[in-house]
Amino acid sequence: MKKQIALVLIVLLSLTLFGCGSSPAQSIPTDTPIQETPTQTPTPAPEQDAFQTEPPAVEDQNSAHSNVLVLCFSTTGTTKGVAEKIAALTGADLVEIVPAQPYTAEDLYYNDRTTRATVEQNTPDARPEIANEISLNGYDTVYLGYPIWWGQAPRIMSTFIESHDFTGITVIPFCTSGSSDIGQSDDTLAAQAGSGGWLQGRRFSGNVSEDELQMWINETGGAKEKRALRVTINGNEVAVDWEDNESVRALLELCVEQPLVIDMSMYGGFEQVGSIGQSLPRNDSQTTTQPGDIVLYSGDQIVIFYGSNSWAYTKLGRLALPAQEVTELLGNGDVVVTIEGKG
Ligand SMILES: Cc1cc2nc3c(=O)[nH]c(=O)nc-3n(C[C@H](O)[C@H](O)[C@H](O)COP(=O)(O)O)c2cc1C
Repeated sequence: MKKQIALVLIVLLSLTLFGCGSSPAQSIPTDTPIQETPTQTPTPAPEQDAFQTEPPAVEDQNSAHSNVLVLCFSTTGTTKGVAEKIAALTGADLVEIVPAQPYTAEDLYYNDRTTRATVEQNTPDARPEIANEISLNGYDTVYLGYPIWWGQAPRIMSTFIESHDFTGITVIPFCTSGSSDIGQSDDTLAAQAGSGGWLQGRRFSGNVSEDELQMWINETGGAKEKRALRVTINGNEVAVDWEDNESVRALLELCVEQPLVIDMSMYGGFEQVGSIGQSLPRNDSQTTTQPGDIVLYSGDQIVIFYGSNSWAYTKLGRLALPAQEVTELLGNGDVVVTIEGKG
């Protein structure tokens, strides 16, 4: 009898936490608010096959790979299922982020605030170790999938993000959840990466259809194109990681009609500077530039650095080239830069 009462109490408690739309009994981490209360219990029974109790086999990242990678972290197989569909639709390679210490059912039991996943989410600088080596070499597009944990990406995603360089890569985040939206989780990861062109992410349910995914893939392809600005320096096309800010958007608008041709001059032994001919929105902040940085100076001039300087600029982007190539390209006389919008 006591057992039956206890069972009823447990069921009622679970419903209060995640099933009935009321606030979770446990305090929500201040930095990781849950946007919505999940409507389905995310932690499956431990005996479920999909549950990852040991690192799953990781697909070989062979040399003859696609230039699109679908990368995911998934503990109960939901995000992985969506990732598999995206990979099939895009012909992409698929790789999982495997935790060095696998998450058990108990680790994921969020109704208890002392369990591992919840403790990690409550610890902003927690960086769970990753078991597998993952290379982004040769990829220009990465679909990045993860489950929502307490309104944010699991901390292991930050471990991955902070140990990889996304320069020259378009990153397209996606997530699964009980019901919460992607919230700020994609922006947080983009800020932690500090490189790459990050698109707005999207939340999917585990049973999202191929049709819905295909529509999203088409949209993201469009968004990627829209953000594309083609840059040449003395006629040589160079890849640029553009910032996502109003100055870059205004620059894109300016270049869509006709290419912007800027006659640049070497200045100070560390930069090339040239006038745009009109002012763009600016949001200057004190910056110490690195070779390859592209900034807006005084609202109406573009500066590209082959050395370094400290001044108040608005960051526009960065040449996706090694420092030595930047010096060769920019440090040997005045250059003509063309910027062409493809919006
Ligand atoms: C610790 C933890 C916290 C969670 N927090 C949320 C949340 O804030 N909002 C939500 O809708 N779902 C939440 N969930 C549910 C998961 O996001 C959901 O089950 C997800 O699809 C699991 O994906 P996976 O199987 O790929 O790991 C949480 C799950 C866990 C384990």
